[in-house]
Amino acid sequence: MNDFFSFFRVLSSICLLCLVVACQDNSTDKTARPGVSASGVAIFKKNCVTCHGADGKLGLNGAKDLTQSMLTVEERIPIITKGKNLMTPFEKMLTPEEIQAVAQYTTTLRTQQ
Ligand code: HEC
Repeated sequence: MNDFFSFFRVLSSICLLCLVVACQDNSTDKTARPGVSASGVAIFKKNCVTCHGADGKLGLNGAKDLTQSMLTVEERIPIITKGKNLMTPFEKMLTPEEIQAVAQYTTTLRTQQ
């Protein structure tokens, strides 16, 4: 049990170290972030929960309930990129890879029926 936890402690220290190193290396170039893969859930928490909520159901500013949305990833990408009605466009804030990742993540919020 203890071994199990110390393994994770070592692992997270390594991750933290990599992150620090990666940040320092790329401090002049904010667009290229090698080693830091676009994480859909992190992008969602940072950019989308204000209107959609962590579970996608908040519906602030008329935001669609993402647990009910039947759109495919391909249909979500243009909405996230260009925005729609009260939804802000994210093309200037996120890279196409990040938009793809977060679109993919939002499909996992759908409640299975
Ligand atoms: C300023 C509030 C706001 C923010 C922030 C926001 N949205 Fe939205 N979102 C909306 C609104 C409003 C709609 C409904 C647009 C319409 O059809 O009128 C919507 C619709 C959507 C839809 C389409 C759902 C459907 O079934 O039509 C998706 C997918 C979506 N948002 C994903 C995201 C993602 C991913 C983010 C973060 C990158 C995000 N939204 C951030 C307000 C927001």
